[in-house]
Amino acid sequence: MHDLPPTQATDTLGDDQALRLRADFPALAQSVNGHPLVYLDSGATSQKPTAVLDAERRYLETTNAAVHRGAHTLAANATELYEDARATVAAFVGVDADEIVWTSNATEGINLVAYAFSNASVGRGGAAAERFRLGVGDEIVVTEAEHHSNLVPWQELAFRTGATLRFVPVDDDGVIRAEAAAEVIGERTRIVTFTHVSNVTGAVSPVAEIVALAHDVGALVVLDACQSAPHLPLDLRALDVDFAVFSGHKMLAPTGIGALYGRSELLNAMPPFLTGGSMITTVTMEESAYLPAPQRFEAGTQRVSQVIALAEAVRYLDAVGMERIAAHEHALGERLLAGLADIPGVRVLGPPDSAGRAGLVAIDVEGVHAHDVGQFLDDRGIAARVGHHCAQPLHRRLGVTASTRASTYLYNTTADVDAFLEGVAGVRSFFGEE
Ligand SMILES: Cc1ncc(COP(=O)(O)O)c(C=O)c1O
Repeated sequence: MHDLPPTQATDTLGDDQALRLRADFPALAQSVNGHPLVYLDSGATSQKPTAVLDAERRYLETTNAAVHRGAHTLAANATELYEDARATVAAFVGVDADEIVWTSNATEGINLVAYAFSNASVGRGGAAAERFRLGVGDEIVVTEAEHHSNLVPWQELAFRTGATLRFVPVDDDGVIRAEAAAEVIGERTRIVTFTHVSNVTGAVSPVAEIVALAHDVGALVVLDACQSAPHLPLDLRALDVDFAVFSGHKMLAPTGIGALYGRSELLNAMPPFLTGGSMITTVTMEESAYLPAPQRFEAGTQRVSQVIALAEAVRYLDAVGMERIAAHEHALGERLLAGLADIPGVRVLGPPDSAGRAGLVAIDVEGVHAHDVGQFLDDRGIAARVGHHCAQPLHRRLGVTASTRASTYLYNTTADVDAFLEGVAGVRSFFGEE
């Protein structure tokens, strides 16, 4: 594990410290297509430090047992580690342990909430679940900037319940504005859901303003924290959202583990999504009674090693310091924007300046399809994401079908950014466009 100096609030990492951290990530040491790997796709998934890989392996080698079942020593140890991990991850995002539900990823977390609403709408959950019932005349508010994960489940919920899906339009830069949300949120609104940080524009949403608008009309807020939890200091209690989701694989942990935050009283009033073993108190042939949250939402044998690994990832991020990580990525994002502004034929999607932006940038290269841009960069060892990044409506609104995205993390340096800029600068001439 790294031995960086202690965190200071105004501090940033800088290239030296980012390089020292990079040594913790075995995957980043390789060459790709004859070039040292330049990994700029952490927005899709992050690389994993040895400490996280070791924690998962150690657990599997020494403990490995089903949690919340069995009285033997390994099962008791596994349960303790599993619940300690919940407390660690909860503290990382500023909430209580019993307000964190383990999921496979953010997508499952959003589906869990949407299905809890539709189960309540067909009468499941009794009087406690009344507040989650939706029907004709009720409105679910989403934004035009959402990842499909935070759009499709709400479309389906609307179909199942007869509720209406309404959209907050983004501005010409693709940014969610509170004024636009105010036009759409009203007396019929029951749910307001939006992304904290856009995975396309990197724009940070005005969370406090939108939460206030939603709560004023008694609506519940679901925050997609997929692109914020890994990159910014996050205090969900202070943000006052009712639910939030994030994915472990984007924050140094393995795939297969994510988290749903829900305010305790909401989780305990909600009917379950997945049902089966481990989430019940009593079962007869006709019906079942359910455990309180979070167990109520964790049906079946759980992914314990991934949970342990996520807690280790969070410890790693905490040790580096989230303020510092955010400042470092912001500086890299600023360099990306400044460099891209000087390359003819390249359009940056999203706000042109770095204020209110996280360290990721998506571009359109005039005359060259994003997949060709991606291939050209990959030939030079540069990993960037191409396509619509699961955000077709936002791309459509910005007048493109696809883009090329560079997304930074704590292990990236200015040299990575410069390699990307140099690569992009060569694209159009290579494809005969200048
Ligand atoms: C903003 C945003 N929301 C949701 C998701 C979905 O995450 P997952 O596929 O891990 O569930 C992503 C992943 O790219 C994302 O960037």
